[in-house]
Amino acid sequence: MKLRQILYSQGFGTRRECTALIERGAVSINGEVQRRGDIEFSVDGLTLSVDGALWPFHAQAYLMLNKPAGFECSHKPRDWPSVYELLPMPLCLRPTKSSVDGVQAIGRLDQDTTGLLILSDDGQFIHRMASPKHHVPKLYVVTAKHAIDDAAISALLAGVVLNDDPEPVIAMACVRVSETVIKLTLTEGKYHQVKRMLAAVGNRVEALHRAQIGGLKLDANLPEGRWRWLTADDLAQINA
Ligand code: URA
Repeated sequence: MKLRQILYSQGFGTRRECTALIERGAVSINGEVQRRGDIEFSVDGLTLSVDGALWPFHAQAYLMLNKPAGFECSHKPRDWPSVYELLPMPLCLRPTKSSVDGVQAIGRLDQDTTGLLILSDDGQFIHRMASPKHHVPKLYVVTAKHAIDDAAISALLAGVVLNDDPEPVIAMACVRVSETVIKLTLTEGKYHQVKRMLAAVGNRVEALHRAQIGGLKLDANLPEGRWRWLTADDLAQINA
């Protein structure tokens, strides 16, 4: 692939901006500054250096973010900063087939929810993961205001009716961690589902953390507010 196309595909700006970066000597490969945008490179295992920062080539982007509280999962946030502000610019400027939208969060977490968020620029992957037919279990650690008794756990497992929805929603699993903390596994992703399920059993969510999607756990070494690329193994874990 031509160097200018490589930079464009990775989100380093418009084609013109990528050419300008190359011409001013900002781009090197294997320690050698490259000043011509039309030189071809194999992208297999390629790592670019742009203004001294290393950038491994990814044909498509798949990442996990450890979402902190106080961030909205929206490109146009209303009241809080956007999770996209936690990502480097190239991830937000990656061109997709139809536009330059960058990566998108798969499913939204509330502003005050923390933990595992997956983002990608692969339209098919996003569609598949977000589809209501795709029942990937999501594990939440829920801290409730009041003690969660056995009756509440049984009700969550048997199915509870949410305020605006006649169909009961069922927890796939519900495990007590302490008097006020449970691990709740859901296969659907209805709006505010965990909070509404806890409300349906007369309780209230005080803190909510997503720890796992499918078999993929939030990386314990990833600090809050930080992201990392997903490996092929991570991707396989999602559906494991
Ligand atoms: N359920 C909620 O209520 N909020 C979230 O952020 C995720 C699931």
